[in-house]
Amino acid sequence: MSFTIAIDGPAASGKGTLARRLAAHYGFRHLDTGLTYRAVAKAMLDAGLPLDDEAAAVEAARSFDISEMRRDVLAEHGIGEAASRIAVMPVVRRVLVERQREFSRTGAGTVLDGRDIGTVVCPDAPVKLFVTASPEVRARRRYHEILGNGGKAEEQAILADIIRRDDRDANRADSPMRPARDAHLLDTTEMTIEAAFRAAKTIVDAAL
Ligand code: C5P
Repeated sequence: MSFTIAIDGPAASGKGTLARRLAAHYGFRHLDTGLTYRAVAKAMLDAGLPLDDEAAAVEAARSFDISEMRRDVLAEHGIGEAASRIAVMPVVRRVLVERQREFSRTGAGTVLDGRDIGTVVCPDAPVKLFVTASPEVRARRRYHEILGNGGKAEEQAILADIIRRDDRDANRADSPMRPARDAHLLDTTEMTIEAAFRAAKTIVDAAL
């Protein structure tokens, strides 16, 4: 049986960094499930298909190679926005959730991060974390990340995008983003990544 750490939370909350740190620390495999939605969105955009073409999206969800997904290719702002529109379709979610569950069963331990890991994908995970931070702090972090990578951005536009995406993710009918009943809440608004990692490690160590 694989030991799974389920991490959920909104965009730029720090959940991805935390997931990578925990995976490296415990020697667990990591899956950023947001990339699976982004991979489908990119396939649709590249093929010039409308994002609400369910049959094409399901086919894309079945056929992309999980081991080939790369955040640097899929990180683009437009792809995140398209991914959140793809993510409202239950038929697409069903295919991706099954592939994510398959990943969670491999190896000694896994870390999965996303929006519905603790509630839908791995409801029996022994550790569930829900990572949040204020929208303003998340927008600032994303802004500095983009500048740090040599890109250009406008903080107000990022904030507007974050608020719109939070709203769509939290209010969709199928698998809305919300903490599982047994999730530990981690508000990183005033925390460094190091402090968040230490808090998470204490929770995981207690469950191992
Ligand atoms: O986390 P990231 O920004 O890469 O996710 C892109 C979009 O994919 C999210 O806005 C959300 O709509 C969707 N998503 C989801 N369920 C997940 C992970 C991501 O619906 N488990």
